[in-house]
Amino acid sequence: MVARVIPVDPFDLVIFGATGDLALRKILPALFKRFCRGGFPSGARIIGAARSELEEGAFQEIVAKRLREDLGEQSVDPSNLKRFLSFLSYVALDGYGDLGWAQLTGLLSISAKDRVRVFYFSVGPKLFGPLAERLHQHGLPHGETRIVVEKPFGHDLSSAKELNRTLAGHFDEGQIYRIDHYLGKETVQNLMAVRFGNMLFEPLWNSQYVDHIQITVAESLGVAGREEYYDRSGAMRDMMQNHLMQLLCLIAMEPPAKFDPDAVRDEKLKVIRALDPVEPYHLVRGQYVAPANSPLDDQDYRNTVQNPRSTTESYVAFKAHISNWRWAGTPFYLRTGKRLKARSSVINVLFKDAPHSIFGEAAGRHANHLKIRLQPNEGITLSVTIKEPGPGGMRLIDVPLDMSFAEALGPEASDPPDAYERLIMDVVRGNQTLFMRGDEVEAAWAWTDPIIAGWEARGDVPKPYESGTAGPGDADVLMRRDRREWRGINP
Ligand code: BG6
Repeated sequence: MVARVIPVDPFDLVIFGATGDLALRKILPALFKRFCRGGFPSGARIIGAARSELEEGAFQEIVAKRLREDLGEQSVDPSNLKRFLSFLSYVALDGYGDLGWAQLTGLLSISAKDRVRVFYFSVGPKLFGPLAERLHQHGLPHGETRIVVEKPFGHDLSSAKELNRTLAGHFDEGQIYRIDHYLGKETVQNLMAVRFGNMLFEPLWNSQYVDHIQITVAESLGVAGREEYYDRSGAMRDMMQNHLMQLLCLIAMEPPAKFDPDAVRDEKLKVIRALDPVEPYHLVRGQYVAPANSPLDDQDYRNTVQNPRSTTESYVAFKAHISNWRWAGTPFYLRTGKRLKARSSVINVLFKDAPHSIFGEAAGRHANHLKIRLQPNEGITLSVTIKEPGPGGMRLIDVPLDMSFAEALGPEASDPPDAYERLIMDVVRGNQTLFMRGDEVEAAWAWTDPIIAGWEARGDVPKPYESGTAGPGDADVLMRRDRREWRGINP
């Protein structure tokens, strides 16, 4: 397999919040990796902007140190690092005041007038408005300007609308790139390739043939380091409203007429709008607790967030229905949680049994099953029923037709571009297909808000589950009531 890095035109990328956690942990490493793959045009510039008064050299040193720590000393080639740092400059800038704006304007004015200019808002949402205003006051946006904003995009529908209004006051929708990094993951895009590039699956992709679908995003890490944000948000807002919702959309949407931003996003939006409200008895919330006889430490949610009465969920599971012709009658079970037994994101499509078994009861029940592993070990497995080889009559077994991308496609497939790497380059190219449109985000909140309001009104308290397990037992009951079971959470 030959990987191709599609070249991009020279660009200026301004990162607001350049010394913050997201910039140092995700954005700058992604840019460094892209640089190492040879995907940086000469003359590209990355301008870090943040409040700290730093010399350019000091900023570059912070970035270098972080890259070495996070990527490992041996993965960071010193000469590559040196050349990458030469693309970086720094401006001490105040989003609410005047500090730094003249300097930023001066830096950008050196570039050609039509050069792509990206402003990455790697800052809290309350700074979106002030930054957008100042950018305009200083005449910085032009025809090739794009802005990138991160999740959380709002806390609920009204705050998301407010953010959309603020941004729309200064930029066209075609200039706004709302990141959901799950959309940048390799297998998430493969999901579209598998569905819409093959004849095999699409005819079966409906309630006539699919019994149910499970979407699991399990994490083994807890919330340490982000306590304050997480305790205000919980799993529903942090993961379900965005990442899992996007996975659900890609699995359930109709084939778009073409792979272009609005065609894809129109279809995703229709899925969200067709979702039924979730019934309270189809919903389970959980909160992790330290296993018996272990110290509380960071294995215990309430201890970690230092809020002994917290009722924020670190786990949520539910059954959802999509009311449209394709999916009426096929339930979708979604679950996500922290401190579970393994890090594992998997979509399982469970097909129905054959309508009649010619092999009789003794052969047992067998149904096909498509497993799409997003992380780790990206790959797709289709289980097929065959005769067990050898004598002994017609005994049936299920065997996997396994397509591990790393095995099938060679070493390059085991190092696909990081989600941020791909997404930032899409911003530079001006391709919004993998970004959320304003109406999509609002529709997702419009569906999520009543679920949250429902449990708040009922005063629900999340069910405890021990760290390192598969989550609260009630989630299994949710499945058993439907005579089904969750697929295992395996690394
Ligand atoms: C983030 C959430 O958006 O996604 C985190 O805020 C979560 O809580 C993370 O841990 C998971 O991303 P990934 O790529 O590690 O699965």
